[in-house]
Amino acid sequence: MPELHVGERHWSVSTGSNLLDALNQAGVAVPYSCRAGSCHACLVRCQGEVEDKQPEALSPAQRNAGWRLACQCQVSADLRVEAFDPTRDGLPAQVVGVDWLSPTVLRLRLQPERGLRYRAGQHLVLWAGQVARPYSLASLPQEDAFLEFHLDCRQPGEFSDLARQLRVGDPLRLGELRGGALQYDADWQTRPLWLLASGTAWGHCGGCCVRHCARITRATSA
Ligand code: FES
Repeated sequence: MPELHVGERHWSVSTGSNLLDALNQAGVAVPYSCRAGSCHACLVRCQGEVEDKQPEALSPAQRNAGWRLACQCQVSADLRVEAFDPTRDGLPAQVVGVDWLSPTVLRLRLQPERGLRYRAGQHLVLWAGQVARPYSLASLPQEDAFLEFHLDCRQPGEFSDLARQLRVGDPLRLGELRGGALQYDADWQTRPLWLLASGTAWGHCGGCCVRHCARITRATSA
């Protein structure tokens, strides 16, 4: 049976075990959300061979550096694994705004240490301590000076419970920037538009899509 090595620990797992499950079952806390190769909350760095169901989900540079999505990998041979460390691997950011849009929707604004290039519809993994969760960006690229997120806090949750305690000036770390929900055809300005956006964040929200759609509507009806 192949062995997993994490720091000083090592233990045997069945061939074909899902890497994310094998790590979490052994007490190595690797966050996850989608389990589908989309959110990138489960990034781990690997040394050794592993069967990866979705290698195209990561860039060649990330793969060459050993990064893998644990939810998409099956253990086939001995493997050394290092979990994503937000203090080492994440981008520092600071809370610059936190207020309630409604009794259950928390608006969080962050200032990253350096500018982020993103598109409407993308989501970003937020790290509060060792708790990670992907949230869609509700700020407008190239327009807003901050990153904005709308967090659904209706239900208790590891991240939303921490988010309720956040104050201006608190540090967070940013992980992977992913996804993209907007699709334009080259001649979109000459054709009827169907503007579609969906509700507020339980991980992925329609915040920036709603604002982006409103901007397109203003531009096309002017
Ligand atoms: S849990 Fe979302 S990519 Fe692995």
